[in-house]
Amino acid sequence: MKIAIASDHAGFDLKELVKQHFADIFEFEDFGTHSPESVDYPDFAHPLADWVSKDPQRFGILICGTGNGMIMTANKHENIRAGLCWCPDIAALARQHNNANILVMPARFIPVEVAFSIVEKFFNTEFEGGRHQRRVEKINLNK
Ligand code: RB5
Repeated sequence: MKIAIASDHAGFDLKELVKQHFADIFEFEDFGTHSPESVDYPDFAHPLADWVSKDPQRFGILICGTGNGMIMTANKHENIRAGLCWCPDIAALARQHNNANILVMPARFIPVEVAFSIVEKFFNTEFEGGRHQRRVEKINLNK
């Protein structure tokens, strides 16, 4: 499975650790940043969200300090449902109830081991559909 991943400088170390930790399971498409030098999170969130939005089978991971900059940017894109996850249970619910297609993590507020568990949970949980399908459809302003 190919997963897009991107971060700003605050999420750079965690992005690299996630790529290493899951290297045998996922193929990562790295949208940057590629160093801890200070950058602007929208410059990385927009290209990743654009890539994910083009195919319903695509998923992504975005990481910044709080997660808020990344999630605000990604959710401007049509067909993107980015969920801010700080624990594995929230990650599971973002998939089960919200059919999230981008996992957003706050690097400055979660230990690395928790981040690994969040990634594992997110990508091993299916959307439940049913009443949640109706709700997810109502998110889109054009419907
Ligand atoms: C960078 O200092 C920080 O503002 C950024 O990573 C993120 O938390 C913004 O929402």
